[in-house]
Amino acid sequence: MKILVTGGAGYIGSHTVLLLLENGYEVVVVDNLSNSSYESLKRVMEITGKTVDFYECDINDYDKLDEIFSIHDINSVIHFAGLKAVGESVSIPLKYYENNLTGTFTLLEVMIKHNVKKIVFSSSATVYGDPHKVPITEDMPNSATNPYGRTKLFLEQILSDVYVSDKEFSVSLLRYFNPIGAHESGRIGENPKGIPNNLMPYITQVASGKLQQLSVFGNDYNTHDGTGVRDYIHVMDLSMGHLKAIEYIQDKTGVFVHNLGTGTGYSVLDLVKAFEEANGIKVPYQIVARRPGDIAACYADPGKAKAELGWQAEKNIVDMCRDAWNWQKQNPNGYEA
Ligand code: NAD
Ligand code: WQD
Repeated sequence: MKILVTGGAGYIGSHTVLLLLENGYEVVVVDNLSNSSYESLKRVMEITGKTVDFYECDINDYDKLDEIFSIHDINSVIHFAGLKAVGESVSIPLKYYENNLTGTFTLLEVMIKHNVKKIVFSSSATVYGDPHKVPITEDMPNSATNPYGRTKLFLEQILSDVYVSDKEFSVSLLRYFNPIGAHESGRIGENPKGIPNNLMPYITQVASGKLQQLSVFGNDYNTHDGTGVRDYIHVMDLSMGHLKAIEYIQDKTGVFVHNLGTGTGYSVLDLVKAFEEANGIKVPYQIVARRPGDIAACYADPGKAKAELGWQAEKNIVDMCRDAWNWQKQNPNGYEA
C-alpha cells in the first residue's frame, strides 16, 4: 500500500516515514525542504535499507502534485507539511495562511481529482487554547490565540466540511501534544534552525555548550512547582500513532479526532531534572518572566486513542531525554556536516 507523506523530510515526518517503511508500506514524500533537509530521508533509507520516492515540491504546486498522483497509485495521505513557529506566525500571518491553508486546498483538490479520499492530518493541542481543565478530552472547546493555531483550527473545520460534501472521505485529525526525542539510533532527530523556540532542543543545546543557560519562562503558574506543565511525548510513539490512524481509516468514512499524548504532565523543572539524571549532565538555568501566550498546564486524556486506535505511548521521560541527547551529541549541527 502506497502512502504519500507531505512534509516527510521534517522532524515528525521523517520518523513516521521510517516506521511506515519498517511496516511494509511504500512511501512517496513531497517536501519543499523549507524547514528540513533531504539528509533526513537519506538516513531513513540507510537505517531501513528501503527506498523512498522523494519529490522536492511545494504543496501549493498543483501541476507537480497532479503529476506525482498520476505516477503513483496513492492509497492515503499523511499531511505534515506546514509552517509551525508560533511567534513567526504572529509576524508573518499571511505567509502562514498561504502556506498552511492554500497549500492544503491544493493538496485536497489534487486528491479529489485522483479519487484519493483518506487523509491523516497533523493537528495540535494548540486547538484547545487555554483549556478550562486537564487532562484534555477531544470534546473540549476549541480556540486559537495566534495565526499558527488558527491554521490548525481552520484546517480541522475545512477537512470536516470536505467530508460533509463527500461522504467517501475518511479524515483523521491527530492532535499532538509536545513531541520530543529522536530515533534511538541518533541518526535522525529534530533540527531547529537558529535558536530553538521549544524547550527540549533548547535544553540539549545548553547541555552541549552551544547555549549558555536555559531561561525558564515563569515560576508563578498554578502548577506543582510554578513552572509550565506539558505532555511530552516521544516522537517514535507519536509516529506510531500515525500508522494506527492509517489502519483505522482504511475501512471507514467520517472525521475522527484523537489526542496523541501520554496523559502525564511534566513541568519545565521536572524535564530539566529528568534530563540531568538520564544523561549525567547539568543544565544551568535561570527563572525569567513568563513568555506571552503561554498557558499553565496542558496534558492529554489519551483514552480515546487507546480505545479506538489501539494506540498508547510506550516510552517514558527517561527514554525521551536519553534519545534527545543521543541525537544532539552525534549531530551537534543537526544535518549540516
Ligand atoms: P517540520 O518543520 O520539521 O516539518 C514540516 C515539513 O513540512 C518540513 O520538512 C518543511 O520543509 C515541509 N513544508 C512546509 N511547508 C511546505 C510546503 N508548502 N510544501 C511542501 N513542504 C512543506 O515540523 P514537524 O515538527 O515535523 O511538524 C510536522 C507537522 O506537525 C506540522 O504540520 C506541525 O504544525 C505539526 N505539529 C508539530 C508539533 C511540534 O511540536 N513539532 C506539535 C503539533 C503539531
Ligand atoms: C514548553 C514549556 C514554556 C522554552 C509549542 C506550540 C504548540 C506546539 C508545540 C505545534 C512551556 C517552557 C520553553 C524555553 C521555557 N507546536 N519553556 N524555556 O509552548 O507547549 O508548545 O510547541 O503545534 O503549538 O505553542 O512548547 O517547548 O515551547 O514550551 O521555560 O526556552 O517550556 O514556557 O511551559 P509549547 P515549548
